[in-house]
Amino acid sequence: MAFWNRKKGNPNQAGEAELDLSRLPKHIGIIMDGNGRWARKRGLPRTAGHAAGAETFRTIAYHCRDLGIPYLTVYAFSTENWKRPAEEVSAIMDLLRKYLLEALAKMEKDGFRIRFLGDITALPPELRDLCLETLETGSHVDAKYQINVCLNYGGRDEIIRAAKAWAKDVADGRVQAEDLTEADFSRYLDSRGVPDPDLVIRPSGELRLSNFLPWQSAYAEFYFTDVLWPDFSPQVLNQAIADFQRRQRRFGGI
Ligand code: IPE
Ligand code: IPE
Ligand code: MG
Repeated sequence: MAFWNRKKGNPNQAGEAELDLSRLPKHIGIIMDGNGRWARKRGLPRTAGHAAGAETFRTIAYHCRDLGIPYLTVYAFSTENWKRPAEEVSAIMDLLRKYLLEALAKMEKDGFRIRFLGDITALPPELRDLCLETLETGSHVDAKYQINVCLNYGGRDEIIRAAKAWAKDVADGRVQAEDLTEADFSRYLDSRGVPDPDLVIRPSGELRLSNFLPWQSAYAEFYFTDVLWPDFSPQVLNQAIADFQRRQRRFGGI
């Protein structure tokens, strides 16, 4: 019935993480890293790693939905990733198109909605239009589960764009500078309306944020694993959640 243990000591699921389904994170962020190294280890082109990583994304997205986690945010393409060779960028854009088309067709039936974090206006026009269509379709879907795809996303870029929008509201007299609160500023970010991530996961052995949700993950719990993203599985996700559930979050209190 499920990939995870509902009860302690389920003999059929030996070695799997035991999850407390009443204490799941509401929002998980994932830095989907390690596609290139996964491909290189197999003597394949890096683009084969991205294709494999996209399949993993689909598996993990459905797993989060099935667990009952309301928000998943994935880092798909950063503002810094434009530095890569043009063929690699274009292969990634093609994959994004393919998976967005699939998502568009399945959203309603499968009960999820997609949103984008990042500056989608700077994407190739065809992909940008597909993003807009996905948003429009999603706005009519009554979904309990939302996937945020970080696309042309950089946390600093997001904060700068938010600051500019806020400054314009100040200049136009809509808000007073001295009244600004953290909650007000959050509403200028791409992530407006989305609760902060409780758990941020980075596979591939790198121990850094790489510009992923710096504002929103100020109090997130972090989980790092050496597993490369194409090898990431529901079992690894469950281990990350089980680890999260063993932690005590204090938010500065005692
Ligand atoms: C993550 O995998 C995917 C993107 C950044 C688009 P990488 O392509 O960064 O894979 P590695 O880190 O080179 O192995
Ligand atoms: C972060 O991975 C971006 C995405 C996963 C989309 P990178 O591979 O671009 O990050 P760095 O270069 O290792 O910091
Ligand atoms: Mg990488």
